[in-house]
Amino acid sequence: MAKWIFLGPPGAGKGTQARRLARERSALHLSTGDLLRDAIEADSEVGQQAKAYMDEGGLVPDGVILDLVFWRLGQETESRDVIFDGFPRTVAQAEGLDERLGQAGDAVKKTLEFTLADEVIVRRIAGRLICKKCGANFHRDFLPPKREGVCDQCGAEALYQRKDDHPDVVRHRLEIYHQQAQPLRDYYAAQGKLVEIAADAPVETIYERLHAEL
Ligand code: AP5
Repeated sequence: MAKWIFLGPPGAGKGTQARRLARERSALHLSTGDLLRDAIEADSEVGQQAKAYMDEGGLVPDGVILDLVFWRLGQETESRDVIFDGFPRTVAQAEGLDERLGQAGDAVKKTLEFTLADEVIVRRIAGRLICKKCGANFHRDFLPPKREGVCDQCGAEALYQRKDDHPDVVRHRLEIYHQQAQPLRDYYAAQGKLVEIAADAPVETIYERLHAEL
């Protein structure tokens, strides 16, 4: 079963594309950001460890992330494709994943890096709305819900803005991303697995580009 990694700055559209692809292929969409937000909501030990880092836009420690990812993979009862969204974010995480997959005779198939200019990112994140119930995401201008505040997918009146989408926090998230991105790019490029997807285009166009690369 294929393992794909979606890399890219905050707001590049990784989650939007990963959710759609996962639905289409009945794949597991494994977003570390979503898992961490669920852990915070549940006030679990992982959530308590992660909250301060996330509120500031910093990275949660590698050990916490790797445990969380391996725990989630261990929940799977059937074999299916996996889309890792927002993971790995450091070379230590990438090495941890390779080691784990290698033990099962498996490997990452491809790493797709969504690229987008910082000024577009800030606009995208400023307008993002997420459904608290089902996780679907929208944008006030680019992908508005049909009814204000109501999720098109599950009908819940539960659209909200993420706390770490405040412009100051977004700037910090971008700084961190730019610090970590090159070593990760080098890591996957050295394995011949890195592919870039220009992400400044409508959602549908990006999806076509993604398909062409898969
Ligand atoms: P995480 O939740 O992973 O956030 P992120 O990587 O910063 O990515 P985003 O979710 O912000 O953006 P996205 O690329 O998914 O964009 P989206 O599709 O929503 O991480 C949050 C925090 O958790 C981190 O800061 C860190 O603290 C911690 N964390 C998570 N993983 C970690 C790890 N591995 N290690 C350590 N710490 C970790 O799109 C954005 C908006 O644009 C939406 O409104 C969407 O509707 C719109 N949009 C999407 N595509 C388009 C398009 N083509 N045109 C116009 N609008 C579009």
